[in-house]
Amino acid sequence: MYVLGAVMLALLCALILRRLKERRICLDVKRLDGKTVLITGGNSGIGRVVAVALAKRGARVIITSHDERVGEEAVRQIQRESLSLDVRFMKLNMANLQSIRDFCQTFHQAEQRLDILINNAGVPAVLDWTEDGFSMCFGCNHLGPFLLTNLLLSLLKSSSPSRVVTITSDIYKYQKLDFQDLNYNLVPLFTYCRSKLANLYFTQELARQTQGSGVTAYAVHPGYVAGDWMAQFSLLFQVVAYVFVSMFFISCEAGAQTVIYCAVSDEVLQHNGGYFTDCRPRRLCSYAQDAGVAKKLWEASEGMVGLTSSHRGPAMS
Ligand SMILES: NC(=O)c1ccc[n+]([C@@H]2O[C@H](COP(=O)([O-])OP(=O)(O)OC[C@H]3O[C@@H](n4cnc5c(N)ncnc54)[C@H](OP(=O)(O)O)[C@@H]3O)[C@@H](O)[C@H]2O)c1
Repeated sequence: MYVLGAVMLALLCALILRRLKERRICLDVKRLDGKTVLITGGNSGIGRVVAVALAKRGARVIITSHDERVGEEAVRQIQRESLSLDVRFMKLNMANLQSIRDFCQTFHQAEQRLDILINNAGVPAVLDWTEDGFSMCFGCNHLGPFLLTNLLLSLLKSSSPSRVVTITSDIYKYQKLDFQDLNYNLVPLFTYCRSKLANLYFTQELARQTQGSGVTAYAVHPGYVAGDWMAQFSLLFQVVAYVFVSMFFISCEAGAQTVIYCAVSDEVLQHNGGYFTDCRPRRLCSYAQDAGVAKKLWEASEGMVGLTSSHRGPAMS
């Protein structure tokens, strides 16, 4: 009896905590008719919810996935949920530099404009290597969006005012970058933290470099989200983990709110290069605001992806 009571109480507390954590929503109702939005990895999790929300506001939404079948199915779902037919899929593997170059070339040929780029695709804490020989987290979570954004920058500039929203994580604060070993690949969680710290430096340096061009950049921590990654565990695990997950994680819908806010709200314009969570700007740890480190990472990343300033125009082949 006592055990049942304790379980019920824990469930009730979990639900109340979850409701409290999900209270922040994007209240900006701005429409996006005539705008084009690119969401990497918009086929699942947070990205898919953002895709539905922005398609509902009238934007042309392009999602990517590295699996054609999954991407096409996601497009049908997003069209159904948003009641918009202006949603399309393009294949892209963020862990492969040539795939990103090919994608950007096709994008430049097929699309007239790009108003909002959402760098959402990312791998969780894994120890693996990309085909180009980079650590999977650093390669897919940082170098991929870095190259993609640079190759699409001319289109973002010609469509300005435009925005780049990159999804980072609050977990960035548990690591620092080691420039002797940017491809650090020893502890899965640490390599993930470093890639998310790199997203913050990237956003700040992008904002600095594009100042005055009409392109602005924002980094978002969506919250700890019980996204589609939960599906990889057995149903039994999911049931057992429910209370824990309810207490510490939020839904994809709630996690998507700050991404949507940074994509649409004009309130964020005064915080170019800023870091947002719960639909408001937040202060970063001092070392994560180091402009010198941000510039150094940018230059190192240019070298790693083979990008020179002459390549910022239409996508290089
Ligand atoms: N969930 C959280 O608690 C949390 C917290 C902070 C930050 N974030 C960040 O939020 C973003 C979205 O995460 P989520 O929770 O929504 O996870 P998710 O449901 O697993 O979504 C990840 C997305 O990234 C795509 N992706 C992964 N590897 C890729 C690759 N090599 N090439 C192209 N696309 C690839 C996936 O596409 P495929 O299905 O094609 O693999 C999927 O669409 C990530 O950047 C993540 O780091 C999440």
